Amino acid sequence: MTDISARAAKEWVLLNPGPANTSAAVKQALVTPDLCHREPEFFEVMRRCREKLVRLAVPAPAREDWTAVLFTGSGTAAVEATLCSAVPRGGSVLIVDNGVYGDRLMRMARAHEIPAHALTYDYTTPASPADVDAALRAHPELGHVAVVHHETTTGLLNPVEEIARVAARHGRRVIADAMSSLFGEPLDLGVDGLDFVAASANKCLQGIPGIAFVLGRRAAVEALAGAAPRSVYLDLHGHWKTQEADNTPFTPAVQVLHAMEQALCELEAEGVKPRIDRYAENARVLREGMGALGFEILVPPAGRSNILTTFRLLPGLTYEPLHDAMKRRGYIIYAGQGDIRTYAFRVSNMGTLTPADMRAVVAAFAACLDELGVARKG
Ligand SMILES: Cc1ncc(COP(=O)(O)O)c(C=O)c1O
Repeated sequence: MTDISARAAKEWVLLNPGPANTSAAVKQALVTPDLCHREPEFFEVMRRCREKLVRLAVPAPAREDWTAVLFTGSGTAAVEATLCSAVPRGGSVLIVDNGVYGDRLMRMARAHEIPAHALTYDYTTPASPADVDAALRAHPELGHVAVVHHETTTGLLNPVEEIARVAARHGRRVIADAMSSLFGEPLDLGVDGLDFVAASANKCLQGIPGIAFVLGRRAAVEALAGAAPRSVYLDLHGHWKTQEADNTPFTPAVQVLHAMEQALCELEAEGVKPRIDRYAENARVLREGMGALGFEILVPPAGRSNILTTFRLLPGLTYEPLHDAMKRRGYIIYAGQGDIRTYAFRVSNMGTLTPADMRAVVAAFAACLDELGVARKG
């Protein structure tokens, strides 16, 4: 039998963009009495989580207009549920594609036979609201715009709020995948035009993987009533209606939701703005330290998030030996996606990490370069 206590004692520092490091209390919240998911005790946890999500994500004046829907599944479940539920049959969508997750939106549209028009950029260029404006002008049939807020492919931020304002001017509605940015970057859900925001428990919320959620403008969610769903499991309105009635259409990840409630309490105690500020300071310390070692950042300054940095590999350095040398020191770094893997790698600073942790991360990189015989600046 596996020695669980020994396994639990080994704490990696996760520099991958989620699942991120969590507090001891979040991990402990997973251990609950066995609980039936159709008893009031569980529905109370669901309701508290949904209410806290809205309270923490939505500014006070707009709060009454928003609701939350929980899904058991990875983040992709929430994004796909939103796209395949929000775009009506016969409707079509403009998809901003400047990374793997924008491309995934395109794949979802194809899978559900939703006509989609791609607004494509390279992986280091943020979407331009003027381009969205032109596309919506040219294509009156595009009723929705789907955009990834933070392209985790490279650490690139798309201007969701400005895109939403443009969409609203044209009478169109926006779906945002804010998987790796909600609660880690500012995002104003009060902005006109924004109807749906998808995210998950295990990124900037600092919970455990297994629960994803959609924040939805109540009127937009209600408007889906009666539409024939494209999917049985990913039916956004079906989940919402059942959860509103304190029930669940399927078996949720009971323990993971308990951990999510603890993570929400911790976010409330820390405050959303202070968390965003902590991540920004983490990123600043990391970038300054890595810059001193000679690492350059792939994304130009104007498009950078506070959550994830893609660094170019140094001459004579490949990803795998660097990954393994960091792992021997307890740090898990993350490969670039696709071709990027051959010349760059990713370091996330989400989760419970602090600026002091990021200084230790930089020191570990320096030690790895020395171990691997790679010249560094500092
Ligand atoms: C922007 C974005 N969207 C969607 C996803 C998919 O999430 P999951 O792997 O939990 O399905 C991720 C995961 O990293 C992401 O970063």
